[in-house]
Amino acid sequence: MTITRDEAWKALALHPDPTLEELFAADPDRLDKLATRLELDVSGEKRGILFDWSKTHLTDELLGEFEALAEASGFDIMRERLFAGEVVNPTENRAAEHSALRGVGREASVEEAEALRARMKLLVEAIHQGALGEVKHVIHVGIGGSALGPALAVDALGRDKPIVDVHVVSNIDGVALEEAFEACDPETTLVAVASKTFTTIETMTNAHSALKWLADSGVADPTGRVIALTAYPEKAVEWGVDETRILPFAESVGGRYSLWSSIGFPIAMAIGWEEFEDMLEGAAQVDRHFRDTQGRANLPLRAAFGDLYYSRLKGAQTRAVFAYDERLRLLPDYLQQLEMESNGKSVTVDGEPSGPTAPITWGGVGTDAQHAVFQLLHQGTHLVPIDFIASIEPGDMLDAAHHHILLMNCFAQGAALMAGRHSDDPHRNYPGNRPSATILCDDLDAATFGALIAFHEHRVFAAAVMLDINPFDQFGVELGKEIAKKIEAGGEKFDASTEALLKEAGLG
Ligand code: F6P
Repeated sequence: MTITRDEAWKALALHPDPTLEELFAADPDRLDKLATRLELDVSGEKRGILFDWSKTHLTDELLGEFEALAEASGFDIMRERLFAGEVVNPTENRAAEHSALRGVGREASVEEAEALRARMKLLVEAIHQGALGEVKHVIHVGIGGSALGPALAVDALGRDKPIVDVHVVSNIDGVALEEAFEACDPETTLVAVASKTFTTIETMTNAHSALKWLADSGVADPTGRVIALTAYPEKAVEWGVDETRILPFAESVGGRYSLWSSIGFPIAMAIGWEEFEDMLEGAAQVDRHFRDTQGRANLPLRAAFGDLYYSRLKGAQTRAVFAYDERLRLLPDYLQQLEMESNGKSVTVDGEPSGPTAPITWGGVGTDAQHAVFQLLHQGTHLVPIDFIASIEPGDMLDAAHHHILLMNCFAQGAALMAGRHSDDPHRNYPGNRPSATILCDDLDAATFGALIAFHEHRVFAAAVMLDINPFDQFGVELGKEIAKKIEAGGEKFDASTEALLKEAGLG
């Protein structure tokens, strides 16, 4: 007999609360059950990622109850609809076809994505071969989903002699763009204007200023140095970009899921086309795993079980991600948008109050964070489930001691959080029983990187299905934008505090 979603949540809430150490003691097979490797085979090379949830409070029983929740939530049907390119974003009547960009999805969408990718490949390779003259730098202007993915991927994968030096500029604060100008030679710079809508005020203002910089520096044809990355090519044409330098992508690709599309242009410019394709293929292998694997064996789904256990049943208001890998220092920022813009909702798909949804995602890089914020994690009053992410292969060529110390610290933190240490001195007491998961990559190459990101995309989707919320809209960001426009237009009165601030800054 199938149960309802409410019944599934009630059963979950009745679950007992053993400590992590008790869980290990009670089940000698705990590690085997909760630590699983995902094998990747890309470009003839095998590598994998180990996902270890044994230091979380997930158990056989809990996993069974979460599987019942997934079933009661229509998870299989929603997943099918996602990959079939059906509407999964009902408030905007849209599909969410980021996986089609990686070759997994509705046939027609996969074909369309392949055609657009072929066009992007031609342009990227032509530029690499000198079709636009010498190109040493790309200034990529975009914001939110049009910036965070490229910035992360270039930083993670494009460190060793990037083919082209990429600067991602998102902030409207001119300080950011000036910094990029300082680092680039205008004669050998391309400006990539990345905007799904090609209307976002920050991006379009930055694009105008970048053009002006090229013109002021004496570059002969500034608009000839612009590459437009957008779902609305007609807007880029209106703006003055020649069609040959516009790389479109489908409207059904959401901004925060768009690094696989032409928004990934600077990634391909930095790391080369083959590696860009490896990144897509790593993600595609996770797509197939997510599409074809049932229940707890499905790794993004299992991760979502853990997320909901802590946020929904244990009241955790945040979750933290610590990359013990300098190359992934932007990952917490990226995941912040992915998770908070997707699942930061308070109503269900039907518009009813949802109860607690996404925790606040935050984090940093290890070991730096240990010396800054880990005090609270070990002895503070908040419950903060943590993900540690690391790579067995180092990213550096220095003495192996660097990487060994890095990894040993990563593992030590998980062990210390779980075990704690009793002291009669309350100041020196570590309560322990604090949950963490470890995601350990064999190597952080392009395929593994793609797999990691796709894993998180599907984790967010799976959580949304069980929470009965729509992860693909983001109306919450609109109101502030509208008010900014009204302030700019003038003539409207706001609250006393806002009026006073405007006056103080000479804007009112
Ligand atoms: O303000 C939020 C948002 O719409 C994000 O979802 C999106 O990634 C970003 O702005 C940028 O939008 P666009 O790519 O259309 O410029």
